[in-house]
Amino acid sequence: MTDPAAPAAPAAPAALPENLSLNLPDALRDRAAALDADDPLAPYRARFAPSDGLIAYLDGNSLGRPLAATRERLASFVDGPWAARLIRSWDEGWMDAPTELGDTLGRVVLGAAAGQTVVADSTTVLLYKLARAAVDARPGRRVIVADTENFPTDRFVLQGIAAERGLELRWITPDAEAGVTPEEVAAAVGQDTALVLLSHVAYKSGYVADLPAITRIVHDAGALVLWDLCHSAGSVPLDLDADGVDIAVGCTYKYLNGGPGSPAFAYLAAGLQGEVRQPVQGWMGAAEPFAMSAAYEPATGIRQLISGTPPVIGMLPMRDMLALIEEAGMAAVRAKSLALTGFAMEIADEHLAGVHVASPRDPERRGSHIMLDHPDFRRVVAEAWERGVVPDFRPPQGLRVGLSPLSTSFTEVANGLWLIRDLLNNQLR
Ligand SMILES: Cc1ncc(COP(=O)(O)O)c(C=O)c1O
Repeated sequence: MTDPAAPAAPAAPAALPENLSLNLPDALRDRAAALDADDPLAPYRARFAPSDGLIAYLDGNSLGRPLAATRERLASFVDGPWAARLIRSWDEGWMDAPTELGDTLGRVVLGAAAGQTVVADSTTVLLYKLARAAVDARPGRRVIVADTENFPTDRFVLQGIAAERGLELRWITPDAEAGVTPEEVAAAVGQDTALVLLSHVAYKSGYVADLPAITRIVHDAGALVLWDLCHSAGSVPLDLDADGVDIAVGCTYKYLNGGPGSPAFAYLAAGLQGEVRQPVQGWMGAAEPFAMSAAYEPATGIRQLISGTPPVIGMLPMRDMLALIEEAGMAAVRAKSLALTGFAMEIADEHLAGVHVASPRDPERRGSHIMLDHPDFRRVVAEAWERGVVPDFRPPQGLRVGLSPLSTSFTEVANGLWLIRDLLNNQLR
């Protein structure tokens, strides 16, 4: 999603922009071509719907590209379950969609056994529901631990909950070019802590937090941990069950290619499902939605996290991407993600004079996007969008390069960053 301060979306140009400079040095062009030739995932790129005039999409970490299969899925949904079956479709799959799709998501990308994942709402709403449920499940503990570098919605939701429940927010201030470390968490948690909320992959730096170690530290303090997986689901392998994670939420429009506004997901460990109670008590999360009863009685299991009518249409596109990820395998996706971000860093180091790489060099700690810093990037991003190269801008001066492994080629990265180089050097004005 784009900051309001970022440039307005350009209409996709019909053909390659005339003034596009793709005068890459031969060595760089050849290296990108060799990496593409060696890439076992390269054929998957052809499965995405074409975007006219696109030179390089460097924002797959914000809104994933649509798969061509999704076009057919959406059209046949209108004629099939919707037009042909109408309301009967609720009994023929729609009611179960949040948990059935949740189970698929759990299996393919989260490392979660069935019955612990649901697709619903937005990330923001699920963060609220789960964080409120978590602090209420630790009565007497007055502190929520979070970090100042987390995405605004995470911080804002916690500020609201702290005010609502009379709790204290204790902030970790991590290195902005990295992220929260186990040591920082250990220093922040204690007997007073109810909940720790962190992002697994930092939305700016791309730092991958040490999820297993931090989860253990939080548990040793007797608190619950809630992981925001927006930037990891579908790009960094996860093993939520094995790592003993309590709660996690994430969005599906980034690396899961669910489309704009596709619903979010929540994971609630089986062992906690009898212990927590989410605050948005709606009829669809009730034990018997169609009993139209006088009082709310929550459903057992993961269904209790649902509040209102499931966003069935919004759940369609991600099914195609989950199928593709399952076919490719998360290990191969991760390997390509690291190769792509490594290549982007290499180009930045060698060719983007005056640009600072503000992301971890260590592959183990690097997600699927990198942040580049330069004072001219607000202008450069606006100009790049007009020319079919699409990264995003994050204030004060960050150009974020998000590389979705199944839809991005090495040649695309080289072309995109070379155009950014030309724009930085004012060679295309
Ligand atoms: C880490 C993180 N959390 C949450 C969100 C967004 O929440 P929502 O899907 O409710 O807009 C984003 C969006 O980019 C994000 O990066």
